[in-house]
Amino acid sequence: MTTTQQDTGQHAEHDARLDAEEAAGRERFDDLIAADSRVEPRDWMPDDYRRTLIRQMSQHANSEIIGMQPEANWITRAPSLKRKAILMAKVQDEAGHGLYLYSATQTLGITRDEMTEQLIAGKARYSSIFNYPTVSWADMGAIGWLVDGAAICNQVPLCRASYAPYGRAMVRICKEESFHQRQGFEILLSLMRGTTAQQQLAQDAVNRWYWPSLMMFGPPDDDSPNSARSMAWKIKRFSNDELRQRFVGMLVPQAEVLGVTLPDPDLRWNEERQAYDLGPIDWTEFNEVLSGRGPCNAQRMQRRREAHEDGRWVREAAAAYAAKQSGRVAAA
Ligand SMILES: [Fe+2]
Ligand SMILES: [Fe+2]
Repeated sequence: MTTTQQDTGQHAEHDARLDAEEAAGRERFDDLIAADSRVEPRDWMPDDYRRTLIRQMSQHANSEIIGMQPEANWITRAPSLKRKAILMAKVQDEAGHGLYLYSATQTLGITRDEMTEQLIAGKARYSSIFNYPTVSWADMGAIGWLVDGAAICNQVPLCRASYAPYGRAMVRICKEESFHQRQGFEILLSLMRGTTAQQQLAQDAVNRWYWPSLMMFGPPDDDSPNSARSMAWKIKRFSNDELRQRFVGMLVPQAEVLGVTLPDPDLRWNEERQAYDLGPIDWTEFNEVLSGRGPCNAQRMQRRREAHEDGRWVREAAAAYAAKQSGRVAAA
């Protein structure tokens, strides 16, 4: 046998072994999904599954971090010390959510630096809702009630996502989101029990945040090409429209308690479907904001870049300290 023949033989053997390993991995993966079990970072997974998760989870992490900006805008102007302390805690929670989610995404083989680079270069997305301005204190109420409320509807089913680190992060995050939703509701309730001017402030905020919060569930089902695959992989458990319906069903009785009007003249209960009929959603607006032309896209990105620059010395100091510590360990 010549050397070349021998090489070819070894290569073929090596390839066959890899093929067999991949087939076994794929079978195990399919079994895990079918059994409603969890996929852990070291398990074999299809490349598309990994890519989909990296995209979805890093977008989610980015949204938590960018989402700190519209509310941080009101920390210095909160109407009382108590409100200020609550709002600070809430904004800090969002930073924590971002950090859990970046860590969970790292288990898929992307680094934190890569995700940050993609975000500040404008290549990675975050939720469009955070490109709207916060013009009054009542917006803190509307964001908590509607935006965190929509986030809960989206995220509770994600606690059962097939990728284990994502599901585990969601369990903890959802507990905090429900506190966020209640604090928003409570801000609106206080305003609605106040003067006519305060009631108008609350209603105006609800008018501005209602439709964008419905858009948070993403495009309608017939226009959401990746949804079916995510559902087959059990990352997603319900379709965009199902979640949107569930959200509106939750809002209607709460709006009654608050005494605010949801700004949709076509909103009515449909006995036959046992769900609310909704007026048309302005998807042109959604697409405009998504493609960077929303009211605050440029401002949010600029602020994120500045924060990254401002934090450079902290990263350098932390890296220098870590290097010194590992030098000590090595010497010992
Ligand atoms: Fe959050
Ligand atoms: Fe939140």
